[in-house]
Amino acid sequence: NGFLAGIFAEPAAATQPEVVSLNIAVLYASQSGTGEGLARKVMKELKAKGHTVALASLDSYTPTALAKDEYAIIIASTYGEGEPPESVRPFYDQLCLETAPRLDKLSYTVLALGDKTYEQFCKFGVDLDERLQTLGANRMSHRVDCDVDLDEAFATWKTSFISRLDEIAGSDKSRSAATMATVITMPSTNAATPAQTHTRDNPFRAPLVEKKMLTKDVSSKLTLHMALSIADSKVHYEAGDACGVIPQNDPGLVAQILDGLKFSGDEQVEVAKVGAISLYNALIDSLQVTRLSRKLVQAYAAMGNCQHLLDLLVPEQQAHFDKYIYDRGVIDLLTEYPGVITDPSDLVAMLPRLTPRLYSISSSPLAHAGEVHTTVAVVRYRSHNMERGGVCSTMFADRTSIGDALPIYIQPNKKFRLPQDTDTPIIMIGPGTGIAPFRAFLHERRALGSKGRNWLFFGERSAKTDFLYKSEIEEMLAGKHLTLLDTAFSRDQEHKIYVQDRMLEQASAFWHWLQDGASIYVCGDASRMAKDVDAALHTIAERQGHLDHEAARDYVLRLKEENRYHRDVY
Ligand code: 2AM
Repeated sequence: NGFLAGIFAEPAAATQPEVVSLNIAVLYASQSGTGEGLARKVMKELKAKGHTVALASLDSYTPTALAKDEYAIIIASTYGEGEPPESVRPFYDQLCLETAPRLDKLSYTVLALGDKTYEQFCKFGVDLDERLQTLGANRMSHRVDCDVDLDEAFATWKTSFISRLDEIAGSDKSRSAATMATVITMPSTNAATPAQTHTRDNPFRAPLVEKKMLTKDVSSKLTLHMALSIADSKVHYEAGDACGVIPQNDPGLVAQILDGLKFSGDEQVEVAKVGAISLYNALIDSLQVTRLSRKLVQAYAAMGNCQHLLDLLVPEQQAHFDKYIYDRGVIDLLTEYPGVITDPSDLVAMLPRLTPRLYSISSSPLAHAGEVHTTVAVVRYRSHNMERGGVCSTMFADRTSIGDALPIYIQPNKKFRLPQDTDTPIIMIGPGTGIAPFRAFLHERRALGSKGRNWLFFGERSAKTDFLYKSEIEEMLAGKHLTLLDTAFSRDQEHKIYVQDRMLEQASAFWHWLQDGASIYVCGDASRMAKDVDAALHTIAERQGHLDHEAARDYVLRLKEENRYHRDVY
């Protein structure tokens, strides 16, 4: 059959002879977990219908496997300027080769995920759909492109392919059950992980048990260590997972918005999936009231016929528009163009939903039983005569105290797990709060008694004020649990020094570790750091492995394919 080893595959729960069971691959290309979450929903529903479903990420899939599939339900997220998620590049590159296999046997449908504020909205999903057509695959139901607020579009798409599958299964009844029921026995790498009881729609209220500053008072930054209790709960996680936090907006900002619009906050409004609540509660709990998006400005400008804004929205003004929304928030739009909103329900319809914030977990379930730790960089800045901040990080900093119950859930991150073989050496690169999962890994490996060597690259502004988890790290280094530590304190000297500079300084040792089978993990800033670290890795392969540009690229691709290069970047 067309399913790869190592993917999560389960036969249908109950095989009833009169139900025709189709073999369906549910595939996703996802970076932040949204696509994976939707894929799981699809899997559940198809299984409940008696189908045999294999769930897999496209980063562990090949066109050859796809050519063997009969049915594939594909959820494809778009990143950056219309690109596939990094990890899915190798799959997509192969699919685009002239030598890619024909897909005449395959019936498929694509859900494209994207963000309308980007010009290349859903482009990867669109390209993938087109490529599958070119290779001869049969589109069983039309593609749906969704924006960040995707519930409705997802439901439409699902209804349409499920009814198509129902038709197919109905007309397929004549086919012998034996040919349908290819039983898949590939073990899941995480077969023991039970399903999560608490999800973003049903979070666990975890008491805050510890809150401390990881940066010194005089630092230019504030980074917090937050410990939440999950004792006696059904919350479980593995090192490498993320914790979703359901935030609340700043009541001060909400009051400003209400004042500006001359609303009391007591007005009843209807919020999808929540019901009728007061406008105040909607603004605190349900709606995004800080950053501006293109979609929001578009809707506002259209409603108020704000000429200046409409002028900014034309494609030629993209750069000016980006600058306009860069340092402004919802409150600025309301004050700069007053009088547009007169009905509270217009405000509710316009503002996007407040979404959970994900934090990489910095604790180990073995070493810190009953707790989930997160490492939070508090985002604050001043612009247009106003103090502003990140929604969740300022909530943690300003409005939480020990004993408060915070709504959380676990967002599993199966692509960011320690090697199964505890002897495998690992290299961890995590500047800033990117250190979080590596603190978890180091504690986890120590608790497990792992013999594999551990190398950490950490970077921050200044050693005196920003060396996160310094004493723990130094203790692990002294105890030889942490084999090597390289730090890059960027602002402690005239010129900037970053983690990738340290990697290059250590190129020879780095290469030896790779020759010894080390796995690499990178966590932190995606836009610059992770790119530069990736470039440094290519340089190391070129210089130390004496490879030309192409060969170095293949080498790094192979590391990814062998599951030895993992990135948790945001
Ligand atoms: P800087 O702010 O002094 O430029 C954590 O935020 C650390 O990552 C800081 O020391 C920050 O340095 C550094 N950093 C900034 N840009 C980076 C990049 N492109 N690559 C690696 N580290 C970077």
